[in-house]
Amino acid sequence: MRRMFIAGNWKMNRSPTEAASLADQLKRSLLDHTSVDIAVAPTALAIPAVIAKLKHSNIHVAGQNIHHQTSGAYTGEISAEMLRSTGCEYVLIGHSERRHKFGESKENTQQKVQAAFRGGLLPILCVGETLEQRQAGQAAMVTTQQVAAAMAFLPADQAAAVTIAYEPVWAIGTGHTASPTQAQEMHAIIRDWLRKNYPLFVSKQIRIQYGGSVKPHNAAALLSQADVDGALVGGASLQADSFTAIIEAAVALKKAG
Ligand code: PGA
Repeated sequence: MRRMFIAGNWKMNRSPTEAASLADQLKRSLLDHTSVDIAVAPTALAIPAVIAKLKHSNIHVAGQNIHHQTSGAYTGEISAEMLRSTGCEYVLIGHSERRHKFGESKENTQQKVQAAFRGGLLPILCVGETLEQRQAGQAAMVTTQQVAAAMAFLPADQAAAVTIAYEPVWAIGTGHTASPTQAQEMHAIIRDWLRKNYPLFVSKQIRIQYGGSVKPHNAAALLSQADVDGALVGGASLQADSFTAIIEAAVALKKAG
């Protein structure tokens, strides 16, 4: 049985003061929801304040990006080791905005996945096709190639500890969610690729989140799919009530299942 994992990506939103206040609200509203794993990814600047608020809570903290080196002349960058030292436990790798707006390559994601494990962070590896790629019938190929590149050279135990977030680029921040059937189809393709390329326990244990316009009204339908093990939530994670509603949908499914 895989535990559901719901993560909120706050992107470049919320100042440290605002982020601390949102964390405070979430800590109170999510206190009882211990049957699912929960994480939030504030801007790097807000991480210490959010971690201070979330001490002794069931909410984990993630970074949104890392540089693959430990330290050095990399102006503007943050290493996995630095994030870990603040108390962060997870890090997003290869978010589509990093790939498409900042030119991050497949090779970069591979280096960053390695760096995350070296620095003691668990990667949330984001993959997904653009609208053009989907229309050209390339969704499965593009997405599995992104998984293969980023997870290359990982020993099986580390591979099983990665969370994959399948986020079709056309669904991110657009209000156009993948249908539950489309999400399930892609999640099954990713899991099948893992089954063929790793020892069996990896594909059984690894969690695959869906991301792209997940909202309270569509969360239950997406999360009830067999291979959807959680969600990576952008816009709806910026308000305590909508993020809480999504987590409550996961908790209710868990109870029903
Ligand atoms: P969205 O963002 O929920 O606002 O579509 C998802 C993401 O970018 O992870």
